[in-house]
Amino acid sequence: MSTRKVYTISYGCQMNTLDAELVRGDLARNGYEHVSEMSGADVILVNTCSVRDHAETKVWSLLGRAGQMKKERPDLQIGVLGCMAQRVKDDIVKRAPYVDLVLGTANFRSAVQDLEDLRRSGGRVVRTDRRPSADFLPDAGRQVTARPERHRAWVTVMRGCDHACAYCIVPFTRGREVSRPLADVLDETRRLADDGVREVTFLGQNINTYGKNSGEGGLCTLLEEAATIQGLDRIRFLTSNPFDMTEDMMRRFGAVERVMPWLHIPAQSGSDAVLKRMKRTYTVAQYEEVVGWARTHIPGVEITSDFIVGFPGETDEDFEGTRRLVERSELVQAYVFKYSLRPQTQAARRLPDDVRESVKQARNVAIHATQDVISERRNRAVIGDTFQVLVDGVSRTRKEMLAGREPGNRIVHFPGDASMAGRMAEIRITACGKHSLVGELESVED
Ligand code: SAH
Ligand code: F3S
Repeated sequence: MSTRKVYTISYGCQMNTLDAELVRGDLARNGYEHVSEMSGADVILVNTCSVRDHAETKVWSLLGRAGQMKKERPDLQIGVLGCMAQRVKDDIVKRAPYVDLVLGTANFRSAVQDLEDLRRSGGRVVRTDRRPSADFLPDAGRQVTARPERHRAWVTVMRGCDHACAYCIVPFTRGREVSRPLADVLDETRRLADDGVREVTFLGQNINTYGKNSGEGGLCTLLEEAATIQGLDRIRFLTSNPFDMTEDMMRRFGAVERVMPWLHIPAQSGSDAVLKRMKRTYTVAQYEEVVGWARTHIPGVEITSDFIVGFPGETDEDFEGTRRLVERSELVQAYVFKYSLRPQTQAARRLPDDVRESVKQARNVAIHATQDVISERRNRAVIGDTFQVLVDGVSRTRKEMLAGREPGNRIVHFPGDASMAGRMAEIRITACGKHSLVGELESVED
């Protein structure tokens, strides 16, 4: 029997990237061969995102193309995994009846078995029933060797979210918050480190409440224990929402040398009225207090944030509050999203999507303009400094350069040899742009 060729693609957040990696590991273990073009595949698996409408539109158009291919090659298998599968399985079956496999956010690990079964029996498998729970998480038995980078890896520590931010689809697609047992997370991290991983990033939608019902200790305990793992040099984690963060947690983050000085703390808005309608449960002043704790207790910390512009009822004045918060927060980078109505959410049910697209667009541009000045100023401030950079390899955007990350998670470009990938280098910063630093190699470890 010839090897089945599989094309996988993942949209959305880092957790999705890792979920796709888990499936790729299962496929590799079962003899499938990965191909980088859809046209050469016997199986197409799409891991999907529902967070904004645009993410779903992209999947529909990809499914359209896959459907065309299937007309010519009826034995082509097509699978839709993850958040869209969870959210709109009926639409998928209706609009794309040629899809063979629809697996939700807790079911995607059965993909390989289902593909085999479908080849024997035909028909379609739609499974979105199982939500993650303490005794059922789709993380078990990770093939740690199946990962795109040798020296860096993601580790999911919890799934789902118990908050109910009015705009957010995540609690609907990923369900209630469930933490993986501490021992499982540490075991997976240890196996990754044994296989050459030097930096892990722990993932959770609201990672500050990791382990909240487990009695095993929370995020700080996890970080402190992970920091004792042999071979692991760097630990990062996200997402740190402003609620559920305490000053004491910041002290503990700052006290662990291997925990890198970088926090992603989404603010979403700089207007108390909008934050209230978003059900974010903190005020602008409280957000700034959290950022202040981070700067006090984590030496050299860099902070990134998310903002939504054009949330229902956002006035010019509300928006100006957001712009001013950006101005004051000294973030190293801000990710800005135009509000996208998501069916089922509280905002969709109660609040009209009343900010015009052109206004959303103008506000998006305005936040970027404000942030770009700050990013560039912060980057320029480190010219002349030397950073420890974990080398990722040849830069994706500047092929003549290598790229790596400094402790604060900024990308650093520098000339060097591709064989340096995975090693720690001392890089002296000589120039910068808005989104990255440029430097020269001072030394590299053996
Ligand atoms: N806590 C999660 C949030 C995932 S969504 C995590 O980071 O793991 C990532 C970002 O997308 C959010 O912080 C928010 O800024 C943005 N976002 C979420 N829902 C949105 C919507 N309906 N419209 C526009 N942006 C949205
Ligand atoms: Fe979404 Fe808010 Fe949770 S942004 S993932 S509901 S913390």
